[in-house]
Amino acid sequence: MNVNRVYALYFSPAGSTRRLVATLANALAQSFEAPLETLDITLPAAREETRAFAAGDLVVCGSPTYAGKLPNKILPYWKEKLTGGGALAVALVTFGNRAFDNSLAELCACLAADGFHTVGAGAFACRHVFSDTLAAERPDKDDYGELAKLGASVATRVAKANEPPAPPAVPGDADAPYYVPRGLDGEPVNFLKAKPKTSGACVNCGVCAALCPMGAIDPRDAASVPGLCVKCHACVRECPMGAKYFDDPAFLSHKAMLEREFGRRARSETFS
Ligand SMILES: Cc1cc2nc3c(=O)[nH]c(=O)nc-3n(C[C@H](O)[C@H](O)[C@H](O)COP(=O)(O)O)c2cc1C
Repeated sequence: MNVNRVYALYFSPAGSTRRLVATLANALAQSFEAPLETLDITLPAAREETRAFAAGDLVVCGSPTYAGKLPNKILPYWKEKLTGGGALAVALVTFGNRAFDNSLAELCACLAADGFHTVGAGAFACRHVFSDTLAAERPDKDDYGELAKLGASVATRVAKANEPPAPPAVPGDADAPYYVPRGLDGEPVNFLKAKPKTSGACVNCGVCAALCPMGAIDPRDAASVPGLCVKCHACVRECPMGAKYFDDPAFLSHKAMLEREFGRRARSETFS
């Protein structure tokens, strides 16, 4: 099959998903000697636009795992804004060393319903945005090695095929409920309403407001967060002054539980 254009399409508030999608899309573009186009849907304005793809397009789609599924506030984008039109897709999810549970199955189901032919998929362990220790150095050399193998396998299968190859079998259930976060005592915790706090180090530079994927932070007053926070941690991770933090007790208990229970190396997995 011919690939005329490769796309890197991702939601990635803290950057890990972006790095993996960009690397794979770039490798595939080189392999097919096709131009590469980047579609970053992290900011609200970018998610307003609809996109129609067609046969001959290969779209590498990426999302982080939130509570074992796709981030629920971004789900409408995956469901309503894309028309696959027979384009090929590769589905990638990242996760923060606990588990990807059902996020990859959900992304593959969305892409199939949109009219894409998914030809490869992968779930990659990455730094957990909540923590400075969980998978802090990932993706690492081994993960990028897995990603390169996935790219090579997709390129070979697509180049050889006359018809779109059958979709890979991925684990999980697209309709499963969200993972329920637990605290250090093992009981469920709820930090849905938690918002980032701002320390005296803030100089109101506006970086956090500009990066927030929900447009939740007041650009004139960074300490004010009138909008909905999805806990993506873009503001915490990218603040040049290190002025953003979460102090919600339920959130901190969940983070401590994750660090205690999920310190082992989680495996990145690919499917093609
Ligand atoms: C609200 C929220 C929920 C998350 N839920 C999970 C989860 O269920 N399992 C897991 O392993 N990581 C989870 N993570 C960690 C992210 O999937 C991981 O850090 C991801 O690589 C972040 O992607 P990004 O850097 O592209 O924003 C969660 C992160 C957030 C913000």
